[in-house]
Amino acid sequence: MWQNLPLFPEQASTLAPRVDALFYFLVAVSLFFGLLIAFLIVYFAVKYRRRPGRERAGTFEENLPLEIFWTAVPLGISMVMFFWGALVYFDYSEPPVGALNIALVGRQWMWKIQHQEGQREIDELHVPVGRPVKLTMTSEDVIHSFFIPAFRIKMDVLPGRYTTTWFQATKAGEYQLFCAEYCGTQHSGMLGRIVVLEPADYQRWLGGGAGGLTMAEAGQNLFQRLGCVTCHRADGTGQGPSLVGLFGRQVKLQGGKSVVADEGYIRESIIDPRAKIVAGYQPVMPLFKGLVSEEGILQLIAYIKSLGQEERTVGK
Ligand code: CUA
Repeated sequence: MWQNLPLFPEQASTLAPRVDALFYFLVAVSLFFGLLIAFLIVYFAVKYRRRPGRERAGTFEENLPLEIFWTAVPLGISMVMFFWGALVYFDYSEPPVGALNIALVGRQWMWKIQHQEGQREIDELHVPVGRPVKLTMTSEDVIHSFFIPAFRIKMDVLPGRYTTTWFQATKAGEYQLFCAEYCGTQHSGMLGRIVVLEPADYQRWLGGGAGGLTMAEAGQNLFQRLGCVTCHRADGTGQGPSLVGLFGRQVKLQGGKSVVADEGYIRESIIDPRAKIVAGYQPVMPLFKGLVSEEGILQLIAYIKSLGQEERTVGK
């Protein structure tokens, strides 16, 4: 019934009904108290207006039970809001294990998408229904924001680092993608289409990708072409550390600190290797800043992941 009202977009993800329920609760509470207060202002103004024989306000004795009541009730209501909101937020910020991993690069003014299987698309994203999809996102230039109203998700897409978001579509169909961060003259035209397919149709769509390389294979080619392979030998005899089984692992750094090898760490280590030196190695790796595109870095990461990874999700 709300479909034609842009304020109430279709609910097409597992998150959508949960976000809406919380939203309606907040609106209902605000409305109830807003109306109550407005009514009481008018009511008391009339009831206690100045009249002959009632020139002054009466005195009011302290009433402890009343004080406790109107402190405890709002506290209870705000705690409900807090914990309910936190629950929804935690589920939203932590992609489920085993989610389909898709890479996204934003730029003025388009969305570039790479699937692990090798398919690439621009301003369109094909996903299967009923399966969690995790997006690893970055920008080539300025801040953009990835916004799908029907899924109730919105996440900034930032230059120089990765952000992630996830969703699980519940209905096949097409949904609008917006850029929700002003990013230049064509910002309003930075639109896209999310195409949610039945699993069988999705497999067919994947198969139609004209047999290109997978992301990991493309990454492996890059790994050879850029010469990474000369130092990062699989057997660990090179000048750089072996990358086998690196992803998701704790890495010991020079100086005693350690860091989890997630996408952000690997990206930084390619662009600016001197930022974090692995314990026992020399800072001899050249900087690849400007030499690899964001899409190339995502391919390299896919390749490194394919060399084995810790069996757990990496936070943040
Ligand atoms: Cu990209 Cu606004």
